[in-house]
Amino acid sequence: MGHGVSSSTRIPKPSSLDSENPGNRKKRWTNLMPCFIALVVIAEIAFLGRLDMSKNAAMVNLWADSLLHRLYFQTTEVESARDDVDSVGYEDDSCETWLMKEDDVVYIRDFDKDPIVVAGGDQEWNTCSAGCKFGHSPSRKPDAAFGWPQEQGTASVLRSMESSHYYAENNIANARRKGYDVIMTTSLSSDVPVGYFSWAEYDIMAPVQPKTEKALAAAFISNCGARNFRLQALEGLEKSGIIIDSYGGCHRNRDGRVDKVETLKHYKFSLAFENSNEEDYVTEKFFQSLVAGTIPVVVGAPNIQDFAPCTGSLLHIKEIEDIDSVAKTMKRLAENPDAFNQSLRWKYHGPNDSFKALVDMAAVHSSCRLCIHLATRIREDEEKSPAFKKRPCKCSRGSQTTYHVYVRERGRFDMVSIFLRSSCL
Ligand SMILES: *[C@@H]1O[C@H](CO)[C@@H](O)[C@H](O)[C@H]1NC(C)=O
Ligand SMILES: *[C@@H]1O[C@H](CO)[C@@H](O)[C@H](O)[C@H]1NC(C)=O
Repeated sequence: MGHGVSSSTRIPKPSSLDSENPGNRKKRWTNLMPCFIALVVIAEIAFLGRLDMSKNAAMVNLWADSLLHRLYFQTTEVESARDDVDSVGYEDDSCETWLMKEDDVVYIRDFDKDPIVVAGGDQEWNTCSAGCKFGHSPSRKPDAAFGWPQEQGTASVLRSMESSHYYAENNIANARRKGYDVIMTTSLSSDVPVGYFSWAEYDIMAPVQPKTEKALAAAFISNCGARNFRLQALEGLEKSGIIIDSYGGCHRNRDGRVDKVETLKHYKFSLAFENSNEEDYVTEKFFQSLVAGTIPVVVGAPNIQDFAPCTGSLLHIKEIEDIDSVAKTMKRLAENPDAFNQSLRWKYHGPNDSFKALVDMAAVHSSCRLCIHLATRIREDEEKSPAFKKRPCKCSRGSQTTYHVYVRERGRFDMVSIFLRSSCL
């Protein structure tokens, strides 16, 4: 949360943020605003840290809790002091007022009037918090275009949802070496991740249906070939006595002309076997299993647990040696309705926060996220200029230091100006 991260063309004054608040409440509200937003921001930061997010979550929760606690007391104090404060007009020489003035800068490019232009893609999204246009603009050279190479001044974008084990170029290091400026792959470490997950695409909370099929598991595997051991895993489970109904081309024993999710709903387990074991590469095979309320048995991403809706909600065959023990667990769960139901408890009580944070990422279309990324880069470049370096971003009065920070919600472009007080950190 450094100072001087990019902001909107002109930072809205706090007073414009509370326009719905009647007259004399304004100033106090201004004062309280910072902590409120900080809370939101801290929650977002927790979501953004990727693999270590679960580790950090507890700490951040504690942090947010104490902030909330203080905010509460501060609110009560300020509320009770309201009448004295109003007439004093302490605002005028306050740190906040001074910082507002000193830190105020105007960016050269206003993306509302002069949107980011991305060539070579279709406009499949409706709204975006950054000015954003896909297609061709006769008046302006595109800011970015799909494919490599691009002419000087246009960022080359790689967008693919395929595994890098099949398309080596999708490996982030390879793509950078080749010269791509912006990488959009299933990797959560790419510049603009494009995952298979989304609330809109999958009815993830669809209710659990009775498990009426005799076979324990269903498989929809189109072909047996893959760059991992998924075929051995399928055969290994069968050898361990797991009855599998196979609807796909690989070991087919059922007619495949069915609705996949509807069919899966009636099985206790679904074999979500990807074609490669790559970090973050988690496809519809997994998410459809969740929709269907069947326990996914996964061959795929080594970090599949990061995609689990709660602890104990999936079975992971990490390596061939795991097949027997996973088969045993499947049998045990199948014979024990309470234990089985426990694995699906997230269907009744909701998935955990990490899962929600993950899927929420897709609430903003990846094309819009691309524009936000490009616009942010442009702002960051501009912030290297001397005009930005001069911003004080903090101010001390007595023993208290006020920090001026610009923040935004994930998926949004405009920054909001907030103040953090040393007494309220
Ligand atoms: C959610 O569940 C997953 C899967 O067990 C786990 O990795 C993650 O730490 C959990 N997150 C929280 C916030 O409990
Ligand atoms: C499964 O557990 C949920 C609560 O987690 C409960 O509401 C539901 O009735 C249980 N279903 C069965 C079949 O036991």
